[in-house]
Amino acid sequence: MKREYYKVPENMKGLEAWGFNWLEFVTSIPSPMFLVTTYKSNGKTNACMQSWAAFTTADKGSRFFVILSSVYKGGHFYKTVLEQECAVVNFLSVDLYDKAMATIRNNQWEADELAESGLTAVKAAKVNAPMVEECFMNLECKFFWEKEIVPGDDRVMVCLEVVNVHIDEKHLDNRIEENGMIYNIHHPIHPEKFTGKAHDYIGIVKPIVDTGEY
Ligand SMILES: Cc1cc2nc3c(=O)[nH]c(=O)nc-3n(C[C@H](O)[C@H](O)[C@H](O)COP(=O)(O)O)c2cc1C
Repeated sequence: MKREYYKVPENMKGLEAWGFNWLEFVTSIPSPMFLVTTYKSNGKTNACMQSWAAFTTADKGSRFFVILSSVYKGGHFYKTVLEQECAVVNFLSVDLYDKAMATIRNNQWEADELAESGLTAVKAAKVNAPMVEECFMNLECKFFWEKEIVPGDDRVMVCLEVVNVHIDEKHLDNRIEENGMIYNIHHPIHPEKFTGKAHDYIGIVKPIVDTGEY
């Protein structure tokens, strides 16, 4: 039997979830976790952890895009990506998680966020943005468009076009599973039994069925 959810269940009303809608925790749909890097106008590196995103093909299969679906307009990433019209999307394996999270603590405008978090910036080849050397895959991107999901919101969708990809040789055989990309997974709350606080997990991807060749 299935239960339906369209109103906040009584015991989820006090949920403290950093502004996330309660349905994020009822549905618990994982999203890839990555670090987006830009240069600030003072020349310092900016790094922004992101997890609400889609990666998709358009233009009859000829182009590849990143859609960052919830970029906070008050943050440095939004400001810098509009100024520079480019960014790098860096994929990290779980061993880099602490350093990636340190970029959030080192978020001051004057901070060289990558260096101060123990990460190395290298110049991208086709755009004016730093790539994170330690990340196993870097997507060089050009800003394509922005759109508010709800007009006047403090968050906006940002579409970036991928123009160049760097992949560490050690990851050419596999970019998923233990040493591959990580996912943010909201704790799947039981809507009626929930007590306490929401939290998240970090997950990896494990293939279970090969769907066959194209
Ligand atoms: C796992 C995780 C995912 C995040 N995803 C997003 C996101 O999708 N959009 C966003 O604006 N901030 C997101 N954040 C928050 C930003 O990383 C954080 O506020 C950062 O310091 C903002 O950097 P900025 O000032 O360079 O924009 C996320 C944080 C974490 C830990």
